[in-house]
Amino acid sequence: QLSPAPSQCSLEAFVQHYGDVYEHSPWVAEATWQHGLSESHDAPDALAELMGLMLQQATPEQQIDVIQAHPDLAGKAALAGELTQDSTNEQAGAGLDQCSPEEFARFEQLNAAYKEKFGFPFVIAVKGLDRYDILAAFEERLENGLAQERETAIKQIIRIARFRLRARAGEA
Ligand code: GUN
Repeated sequence: QLSPAPSQCSLEAFVQHYGDVYEHSPWVAEATWQHGLSESHDAPDALAELMGLMLQQATPEQQIDVIQAHPDLAGKAALAGELTQDSTNEQAGAGLDQCSPEEFARFEQLNAAYKEKFGFPFVIAVKGLDRYDILAAFEERLENGLAQERETAIKQIIRIARFRLRARAGEA
């Protein structure tokens, strides 16, 4: 169960506590509260599903903005210690802070190629993946088309949010 219980929160309290579940995009939490929360949403997966629905129902422009709000994986902001707490933990959890200079260079190349092709950063839910899995997924997804990649990025972001909510509820 989440604390504070989402269903008991005022709009302000809900946005304060859950506004960062979607990276730099507190409007997702606001839309979720406006939709209406019941006690069933005090369970992390149920809240994750409703928050994800708000993102699925958003306009393509809003979806792109949420994708754009993500930092590069193993990127300069990560090296400079400029990430949000969640992003820092996720990137370190996948061992991205342990990359060799060659691996950082490979990420830099792929981050640039991906942004050049799609116009937004590569986002993947990294939980359970190591840097080799991530590099392999990166190369594979670079072959996709724009519409498919936007859809994949949104699905991955919804997955990231589910892991964040589970972690906050004290679940692995
Ligand atoms: N997957 C999990 N966290 C992140 C992040 O901070 N950035 C990107 N690009 N993908 C992620």
